[in-house]
Order: sequence, then structure tokens, then C-alpha cells
Amino acid sequence: MQNFSFRNPTKILFGKGQIGSLDGEIPTNARVMITYGGGSVKKNGVLDQVRAALGGRTVLEFPGIEPNPTYETLMRAVELAHREDIDFLLAVGGGSVADGTKFIAAAIPFKEEPWDIVAEGTPLSEAIPFGVVLTLPATGSEMNSVAVITRQATRDKLPFSSVLVYPRFSILDPTTTYSLPARQTANGVVDAFAHVLEQYLTYPVNAAVQDRFAEGLMLTLIEEGPKALAAPEDYDVRANIMWTATLALNGLIAAGVPEDWTTHMIGHELTALYGLDHAQTLAVLYPATMAVCRAGKRGKLVQYARRVWGIDNPSDEAAIDEAIACTRDFFESLGVPTYLADYGIEANAIPQVIDQLRRHGMVALGERKDVTPGVAEQMIALCLKADRSTGLNARAT
Ligand code: NZQ
Ligand code: ZN
Repeated sequence: MQNFSFRNPTKILFGKGQIGSLDGEIPTNARVMITYGGGSVKKNGVLDQVRAALGGRTVLEFPGIEPNPTYETLMRAVELAHREDIDFLLAVGGGSVADGTKFIAAAIPFKEEPWDIVAEGTPLSEAIPFGVVLTLPATGSEMNSVAVITRQATRDKLPFSSVLVYPRFSILDPTTTYSLPARQTANGVVDAFAHVLEQYLTYPVNAAVQDRFAEGLMLTLIEEGPKALAAPEDYDVRANIMWTATLALNGLIAAGVPEDWTTHMIGHELTALYGLDHAQTLAVLYPATMAVCRAGKRGKLVQYARRVWGIDNPSDEAAIDEAIACTRDFFESLGVPTYLADYGIEANAIPQVIDQLRRHGMVALGERKDVTPGVAEQMIALCLKADRSTGLNARAT
């Protein structure tokens, strides 16, 4: 196991009715700005519950944070917060609202050009406090220190991270997820699954409990994901998915192990260029990451095949093939297509994505920093479409 330090300061309030706890989490004299997205929280009644719980506090609303939150929109929130002397933010929504709120919290007291927080990774010296009421289990943003922000004008989609943007608290009420469209439920399961893979599918370092935690999270997603699509208002299913997605990216399973993140970084470019949902990019790219990085990941791929998918083929190579096919089938079974052709994207995407990766300095990705633009090119080429002419189909990539 590698050395690590681990601290996660976010308080989690989990379960039905927990929105009522907001009153105890935010100072009574706070000037609060509620941030939210395109209106789902109005339709499903979550915003009403939040406003009721905040009682007599001074509360402003900033709606309109879009999926893949943009710098352009978020800067309008920063201006409003300055004008209104806001000192507490409350994100009500999915990962995009949580991420956007992290940026707003960091940008409000920031003295220079706020885009530098993202583009240059300029360290923060302060951020204003915020909490999250999560309505979409997927990103783990509710209990981590990362945000992914897009600058529309330049088609940059980049992450930033700071210990100052851990949420003070996050409320996870599974009933808020009943209203999710099937596409977003499936996206959440795929994203959380990919987060586990990024921290698990590297090389073995004898981190026994991290491996078992990671496998437990993946098995739970495999079991519960289809149930959430079949029975959207099953509390226990929604609760299990919600807590699994949080644990998949809150630092716990990353402690003491190598991390990859190749698939995410290439995926962000696909979203920036072509507008695919975050999870769609992961469903397309992950089978190709496994195939192209097969040699470096061999030990963990075999472990993944045997412990997660229960594959008992005596040949390790055949077991890996089957595990890659099972991964693709799982994403497809949730209704998330796994080839670029399914999204109308063709081979001319390859040079465009590679250009973006170079522009963003993403030229040495992966747990061994050996995913060069050339390797990324091979991955994207594998994603274009199922090659049925050679007998290679969706199951044989
Ligand atoms: O905007 P509204 O109207 O709220 O609708 C949203 C949005 O259209 C809808 N939705 C959310 N909760 C709902 C609901 N609809 C009905 N009922 C509910 N309860 O779902 C749509 C997608 O929401 P979004 O927040 O964009 O999805 P998600 O949570 O998947 O977040 C994706 C963003 O997070 C970033 C992604 O790159 C992407 O920008 N990520 C953040 C990470 C982090 N902070 O650690 C890590 C991830 O890998 C990821 O990169
Ligand atoms: Zn993700």
C-alpha cells in the first residue's frame, strides 16, 4: 500500500426528511444564495422543502446553472453574490450545480481573474462556505473537493480542486431522486462505476481493503442500477445507489492506491466538443481504455474479471476479454450506448480530440503517465463503431 493522508471534512446528513435539518446547519443570520439548475427542483418540490427549512433567513435564488456548468453563467452568480453581500451558498441539484457552486464559492473572494482557478490551478486562500442538497447521485461532488467547469467561448472543460471547496455539509435524501429521468439515473450509475474503475483498475499495490471496498461498490451498482430503472420510487434501491455514488469519489478508495483518470480527461474533451453527457463519454471510452491499456492493467483486469463479474474461465486472457464485454454490456443494459457512432460522431473526431488534449497539456495520462496523445488516438479509434466485418462486435472489443 502506498503512503497517504486522508481527511474528508464534509458532514453527511442522509435519509428521508433530512432537508428539514438545514435549519441547524446554516447560521441564522446568514445571507444565503440558493443555486440550482434548469428547474427540476421546482417541479419535484425540493426547492419548496429547502425554502421552508431555511425559515426567516435572507434567501436569494440563482437559477440556470446548466449541465456541464459554464464559467459564463457562474460569473453572473458571482456578480449577484457581490452585489447582495452573500455569505453562504446552498447548491440544490446534481453534480453540475454542486460543481458550479464550488466555483462561485471560490471566485467570490478571489482577487484576480477567476478563470485562473480552473485554467492555471491557482491555489485558493479562501472560499465562502456552502452546503449541498443533492438530487442526482453520480459525481461524488457532494463529498469531494473537485469541480469541473466549462468555458463555453473556448470549449475548455477542466477540473480544479481545493480543500477549501469541500461542502460544509451535504444532504442526501434518496426521495429527491425519484423524479430523475431514466437517462440521468443510468448516467449516475455509469459515472459512479467509472469513478471506482479509475481508482481500482491500475496496478496492484496490495491494498486489500481498498480493493474490497471498490469491488463492493461496483457489485452494488451492478445489482441496484437496473432496479432503479425498473422501480424508480423504491426507497432502498435509491438509497443504496446514492450512498454508493458518494463513496465512489470521496477519497476513501483512492487512499493508498494509484489512480488513472485517463478516461475522464478524454471524456471531458468529448463533452466540450460534441456535448455528450459526461457518463455517455465514459460508457464509450472505458471499454477502449481497458483494451488499449490491457498490458499495464493486466493484474487488476484479471482480479476485476474474477471478483466483480465472477468469470471463472481458466485462461486469464479470455477472462479479461469477457470482463471487457461484461462492462460494455452493463452500460448498454442501462440504456447508455457505448460507441461514438451511436451519438453521430465519426472518425474526424480523432484529430479534434487529440488537439484539445494537447492544448490542455493532457499528454501523459494514466497511473504510469504513459497515455500519450498517440495512445489516446488508439483508444478513440476503437470507440468509433462496432466492427462487425471482422467479427468483432460489441462483446469482443
Ligand atoms: O438542471 P435541472 O433542471 O436541475 O435538471 C438536471 C439536469 O438536466 C437533471 N436533474 C438533476 N436532478 C434531478 C434532475 N431531473 C429530475 N429529477 C432530479 N432529482 O439532470 C440533468 C443532469 O444534471 P447534472 O447535474 O449535469 O448531472 P451530474 O450530476 O451527472 O453532473 C455532471 C457534471 O459533473 C461533472 C461532470 O463533468 C459534469 O459537468 N463531474 C464532477 C465531478 C466531481 N465534482 O468530482 C466528477 C465527475 O467525474 C464529473 O466530471
Ligand atoms: Zn465522472
